[in-house]
Amino acid sequence: MKEKGSLFLIEEERIKKRIKEMAEEIKKDYEGKNPLFVGILKGAFIFMADLVRALDMDLEIDFLAVSSYGKFTETTGEVEILKDLQIPVKGRHVVIVEDIVDTGLTLKYIKDMIQSRGPLSLKICALLDKKERRRVDIDADYVGFSVPDRFLVGYGLDVAEKYRNLPYIKEIEG
Ligand code: IMP
Repeated sequence: MKEKGSLFLIEEERIKKRIKEMAEEIKKDYEGKNPLFVGILKGAFIFMADLVRALDMDLEIDFLAVSSYGKFTETTGEVEILKDLQIPVKGRHVVIVEDIVDTGLTLKYIKDMIQSRGPLSLKICALLDKKERRRVDIDADYVGFSVPDRFLVGYGLDVAEKYRNLPYIKEIEG
């Protein structure tokens, strides 16, 4: 991680290295449990793809699509489900895979929703954590990087659907 000029940046190599470390930790916790990884679309698609490929064990994947940033009411934290899960979570070890935890409202909503469906266990794996901005009491169990309160793009993260394909993460000037 470095500041390029004054702009925050996480290089591709640094992301790769950190994902390997996270996968090692997750493998220790879930080996033999056939966990279900639930990626939150669209932002988590690249992180999910790299994370599961770093996990040399049996697992299943599914995706949940929710309304994008700014479209839900911050006060209630209500999130619109655009695409629900296809694999039932009841009795499964579930790991939610998210790109970034910001206010935490999206994740809180998703976590409560999945929890109500009766998984055997439920944890959260987030690549980025913008802790300063948190408005609800929720934390990821696995965190790639703690990041400052800046608007970040790349590696799945977008601004108006742009920059998701960047292989690194950079701050966008506001
Ligand atoms: P939260 O509900 O405020 O935690 O928002 C989480 C969602 O907002 C993430 O899944 C992203 O889609 C989006 N988001 C939050 N911060 C950023 C950012 O810095 N860049 C791009 N998207 C972001």
